[in-house]
Amino acid sequence: MDRFETLDSLLQEERVFRPLPQLVIEANVNPQELGAARRQSEYDPLGYWEEAADELDWFKRWDRVLDDSRKPFYRWFPGARCNIVYNCLDRHIETANKNKLALIWEGEPGDSRKYTYFELYREVNRFANALRTLGVQKGDRVVVYMPPLPETVVAMLAAAKIGAVHSVVFAGFSAKALRQRINDAQAKAVITADGFYRNGQVLRLKDTVDEALVGACADCVESMVVVRRTKVGVDMVDGRDFWYEDLVRQERNTAPTEVMEAHEPLFLMYTSGTTGKPKGIVHCHGGYMVGVHRTLTTVFDVKPTDIFWCTADPGWVTGHSAVVYGPLLAGTTTVIYEGHPNYPQADRLWNIVAKYGISIFYTVPTVIRMLMRFGVQHTKRHDLSSLRLLGSVGEPISPEAWTWLYKNIGRSECPVIDTWWQTETGMFMISPLPISLLKPGSVTKPLPGVKADVVDREGNSVEPGKGGLLVIREPWPAMMTGLWNDEDRYREYFEKVPGCYFAGDVARRDEDGYIWIQGRADDVINIAGHRVGSAELEAAFGAHRNVTEAAVIGVPDTIKGEAAKAFVVVRSGAEEDDELIKDLKRHIRNELGPVAVLKSIEFRRKLPKTRSGKIMRRVLKAEETGTEIGDLTGMEDDS
Ligand code: PRX
Repeated sequence: MDRFETLDSLLQEERVFRPLPQLVIEANVNPQELGAARRQSEYDPLGYWEEAADELDWFKRWDRVLDDSRKPFYRWFPGARCNIVYNCLDRHIETANKNKLALIWEGEPGDSRKYTYFELYREVNRFANALRTLGVQKGDRVVVYMPPLPETVVAMLAAAKIGAVHSVVFAGFSAKALRQRINDAQAKAVITADGFYRNGQVLRLKDTVDEALVGACADCVESMVVVRRTKVGVDMVDGRDFWYEDLVRQERNTAPTEVMEAHEPLFLMYTSGTTGKPKGIVHCHGGYMVGVHRTLTTVFDVKPTDIFWCTADPGWVTGHSAVVYGPLLAGTTTVIYEGHPNYPQADRLWNIVAKYGISIFYTVPTVIRMLMRFGVQHTKRHDLSSLRLLGSVGEPISPEAWTWLYKNIGRSECPVIDTWWQTETGMFMISPLPISLLKPGSVTKPLPGVKADVVDREGNSVEPGKGGLLVIREPWPAMMTGLWNDEDRYREYFEKVPGCYFAGDVARRDEDGYIWIQGRADDVINIAGHRVGSAELEAAFGAHRNVTEAAVIGVPDTIKGEAAKAFVVVRSGAEEDDELIKDLKRHIRNELGPVAVLKSIEFRRKLPKTRSGKIMRRVLKAEETGTEIGDLTGMEDDS
């Protein structure tokens, strides 16, 4: 089924699923409490978030909950001092969590490692000391270019512990994309691995970092730390490159935790926008931890006995909030798997669920669509009875995929929690709780403390049933604090729709107030839940010697939701043949990495343009799909 059939079925979906009574009785937040929280967040939203902040430990309390004197640069908890790592690790060491499992990791070949909170705390301390020994200081940027390994989590937490700012770059990005991010952040250190296992193969990783740093490129980088994962041979540069194991071996088990102002940066996460240059979204220690902790614990009803598995790679925001920070703040056990969901066969995920007794399973619709294809015989072979909640994120989930998950994985008992949020929002924004009535394909209602709305371009709420722009009307604690070195671009989020943060999505609200996400309104392609900008792809095409110009749009893809299709005008004299297509595909992979999945390339004599010479991607999109998402597609100026 393609994306647009999916949207049609979203418009026709009328089923409602009720939670089992037992689940409601046992829920951390019952329906009365949810009602009270919603009411409180209506008349006293700051009070609501202040109570959430009180559930965490601070070195110094805030002077005020919110400083909105310099809109849209909001500051949550001004005057407060804290460190998110203190809340993720240090404080648990003083409680019964000390010897509880913090992290279960499984490698693709089947090897596994487990860390209690105490063990993770000590490992993080050793690596924090190692970073300090390398000269990394508070405020310095550290790029983490790693596969999903325990050391990835350790690197993030160690950097944050000493007040450095981490920027995790997904290992599926190319050397060039990595270099761009290292340079933009002016990173002092890079943490990587020699390689990793994916789909039965060893993929080399350190080589890519070497390529990114070749010559005088990214000469801000003073040191590189390499985790030995696959034992492939790598070149180590004397004085710059260090083995992780050599560094931590010499370090102490304790390390001081840097005292941070609440708004000081915790991490940068680069994400695609509508220009060729990715945006460095900045999140801070204080507001981020409050928002993530409150939303993760309520939405996933986290209990002391849970084992929480979010299948996202730590290289995306979901990996930050729902693999590393959220679960550790909540004191639960988080699970990380290194490899491909189909390796060695299509039951790998269910094998992991059964093996560790996973109780909360949070994934992306792309994975579900892929596994649906292989049939239920794979799910039947495993004991999935430990599961109690299922979750979805990153792209619209079709009612078909939703019900497949609910029936075949969740025994028609486990609610499917479809969470809407973004790199920019940091935390879940629109989502059911386990006690909510569910409609397959709807993200239901804004969470308490979140003022989401569906509006027209002037910011007026649209009637139920009508499509509109999804906006957030009031600030929320885990909102990005800015864009790295780019105040103007940050302001744009608040300028498209008067008085609101515009998320970039189109949505519809039904008669019951339930929200149905319909897709992006801008030129960002959602490939398997990963954002890739049309403009980034076009710039990459433009860098090819035989290309004059290119336009790239998202087209429906049965498994990935969307994939990229390129329309390319070639330089005069160049042959429009299969050779060139192959070469262009290689080129794009080289420029951006395997994340940028190209479905097809079509040669054109010219591209449709506005009078001012801007490429009209939506004309190509309409030609291609025969439809547009609502009447709001394309926020571009056609004048
Ligand atoms: O279009 C929405 C889609 O993913 C975008 C955010 O992408 P990113 O910043 O990479 O973060 C992804 C994971 C938090 C949104 O603008 N999106 C996210 N969650 C959903 C979704 N679309 C539909 N349903 C969702 N639950």
